[in-house]
Amino acid sequence: MAQEDVFKKIVSHCKEYGFVFPSSEIYDGLGAVYDYGQNGVELKNNIKQYWWQSMVLLHENIVGIDSAIFMHPTIWKASGHVDAFNDPLIDNRDSKKRYRADVLIEDQIAKYDEKIAKEVAKAAKKYGDAFNEEEFRTTNARVLEHQQKRDALHERYTQAMNAGPDLQELRQIILDEEIVCPISGTRNWTEVRQFNLMFSTEMGSTADGAMKVYLRPETAQGIFVNYLNVQKTGRMKIPFGIAQIGKAFRNEIVARQFIFRMREFEQMEMQFFVKPGTELEWFKQWKETRLRWHKALGFGDDHYRYHDHEKLAHYANAATDIEFLMPFGFKEVEGIHSRTNFDLSQHEKFSGKNIKYFDPETNESYTPYVIETSIGVDRMFLSIMCGSYCEEKLENGETRVVLKLPAALAPVKLAVLPLVKKDGLPEKAREIIDELKFHFNCQYDEKDSIGKRYRRQDAIGTPYCVTVDHDTLNDNCVTLRNRDTMQQERVPISELDHIIADRVSITSLLKTL
Ligand code: GAP
Repeated sequence: MAQEDVFKKIVSHCKEYGFVFPSSEIYDGLGAVYDYGQNGVELKNNIKQYWWQSMVLLHENIVGIDSAIFMHPTIWKASGHVDAFNDPLIDNRDSKKRYRADVLIEDQIAKYDEKIAKEVAKAAKKYGDAFNEEEFRTTNARVLEHQQKRDALHERYTQAMNAGPDLQELRQIILDEEIVCPISGTRNWTEVRQFNLMFSTEMGSTADGAMKVYLRPETAQGIFVNYLNVQKTGRMKIPFGIAQIGKAFRNEIVARQFIFRMREFEQMEMQFFVKPGTELEWFKQWKETRLRWHKALGFGDDHYRYHDHEKLAHYANAATDIEFLMPFGFKEVEGIHSRTNFDLSQHEKFSGKNIKYFDPETNESYTPYVIETSIGVDRMFLSIMCGSYCEEKLENGETRVVLKLPAALAPVKLAVLPLVKKDGLPEKAREIIDELKFHFNCQYDEKDSIGKRYRRQDAIGTPYCVTVDHDTLNDNCVTLRNRDTMQQERVPISELDHIIADRVSITSLLKTL
């Protein structure tokens, strides 16, 4: 199946099974804003718990905070967001549609990559085992031509972006590459303009006295402005970290790929404060720690890669993304940045307050350097859905759709199913739930055939189902079915907790790190 179709299926699966709904759907939705349903919220909470515990429980020197979404507007001046948190936009005069100029060019680069990949795939099919990809890439005339055009475009684009960006040059690239508007099909483009991504609103009752405030575009600044409060009240010694999970807002112009790029989303960020000069060592360490966290979910190492940034923000001295293989290619899920002392120094300058750290070991004061790990909850959610969605052909010719979610993240851990709706089986099933519900999320289901009920649980990723049958009333045993293998075993009710709890707990997942 084409990857595009797989992605469409995942999106509709998310809606059909109560994971993600378009926001305000009965009013025809609101662009790039989504709601999480009954299963989505459980999965999302489990992701957050896995992250939070891996930071705060497993590291003595990391603590959490929960800062407000509204913050003093000068914070965004100091951080650079008021002046520089912009996207270069271009309009097509015929369709009246607005695009990000950089995205149009990046899509064009991707088109060259696709052309090359097609040539390689065609040749691989033709030559079979004898195919030497490296040789083909370096000798085939068509591949070389596409590669040369791609590299030239990439070079020109990088230069334009590094020069400010150079808005005129971005427009010229779009014209020279003959990029057309996907709606009107024309090249009738306006000039390129900068557009700030922050949402603003007014705080205060009267128009005159109201203050313009922003909805935070990242949670990180709430950590920076509280760093000294936490350091002093928690008696934290460098190196130490502050973690936070919370909503962030960006007026994204090109919002696409479902919950990949949203206007309201959630971040899990951790700022790790270190002694100047040690930051690159810590950067390396956090890069490895974070990749381990992702890989522990078991989707396979080939689903992840680092993308080290060549072009660094002016305040960073190293940056990398952890990318996940989505149906639409490798995409950034998390960023790890060595942000130097830029943010703290800026807040010191703009607030006029001394926020230096006094190091009792060396008797010196300094502004700490910061390593940031920043991951989007929603993007993580999407990567998990993409990694888990499976369509399997069964021996009887039927197809089952199963979400092979990591058990610790699954919304429901155990479904308890009475074989029939009579003879005391429902009551026995309820008894089991009443015992186990204190340990993990259980669901009761008595409607339809047992096969249909298994399918429903497969579709929401429930790792275990137990069936209560007539024998249960005599032997106090149930049939335990494993979601992935579909194998069934007979187990005593008294051992269910012991058998399942370990396999589905976040604690067990954390222990693999
Ligand atoms: N404090 C650093 C920061 O915010 P970022 O690369 O802009 O860095 C970090 O964002 C992470 O937040 C991304 O890797 C992504 O997972 C998530 N993210 C950013 N913008 C997003 C959006 N519009 N929708 C969903 N997730 C987003």
